[in-house]
Amino acid sequence: MGIMKEIDPLRLPQHIAIIMDGNGRWAEFHTLGRILGHREGAESVRIITKTCCRIGVHCLTLYAFSVENWLRPEVEIRALMNLLLQYLEDEAREMMDQGIRLTAIGDLDSLEAPVLRKLQETIEKTAGNPGMILNLALSYGGRDEIATAAKRMVGDALAGKIAPADVTRELFSKYLYTTGIPDPDLLIRTGGEYRVSNFLLYQMAYTEFYFTDILWPDFRETDLLTAIAEYQRRERRFGMTSEQIGGR
Ligand code: IPE
Ligand code: IPE
Ligand code: MG
Repeated sequence: MGIMKEIDPLRLPQHIAIIMDGNGRWAEFHTLGRILGHREGAESVRIITKTCCRIGVHCLTLYAFSVENWLRPEVEIRALMNLLLQYLEDEAREMMDQGIRLTAIGDLDSLEAPVLRKLQETIEKTAGNPGMILNLALSYGGRDEIATAAKRMVGDALAGKIAPADVTRELFSKYLYTTGIPDPDLLIRTGGEYRVSNFLLYQMAYTEFYFTDILWPDFRETDLLTAIAEYQRRERRFGMTSEQIGGR
């Protein structure tokens, strides 16, 4: 595993977010139905989660289903929900063994009852685990997240719990689904598209973006390590000069 030597374990991205795209095209390429692409994609989820855990990433957020994905054909939605349920059933044991703490972001109430129940059960079961946070974005939309946060904040204001002057970006962050989770350091998008597709809009203000043509079912350990190595070659300036942040 040569690429591992290129990675500085002290400068790992603490939080990696991934837009897992390209399952459908992978299936098409292999002349299989889209559903089989999603199934193979679930295998990448297992491998990438394991790798992140092993190398010491603190949080991994996976974009598994967007609010816009509800517009897909009914059969595909059903298959994705079944795969999610199966994934949760199969992986609970592994999450306990690896000390993974499962969390989820999105409009979770829109998930069907058996999926939501299993999700909540796994979240509760793993809540005390000390290891990596595996954060699943399900029925997630960035704009919806921001609007929902605003709605709850207005509610608190009307209830007299907060005043307009209290509203800062720190306070606002607390109303987002991601409260308590640091902003992503690295965003990876597979599948060759160069867009954010309504993912973590507020949180990605200073995230490093990495795009690859590799389709999600083909994205495995070496590809992840390659992305991390590239991340480590970047200079994050946060608006400052290179000199200020101790660069050139
Ligand atoms: C990503 O793969 C998985 C989900 C969006 C659920 P796609 O299903 O979007 O694959 P492509 O983009 O059609 O290849
Ligand atoms: C983004 O992929 C959502 C997920 C990976 C869950 P899409 O395939 O839905 O995104 P678009 O439609 O190409 O922007
Ligand atoms: Mg897609």
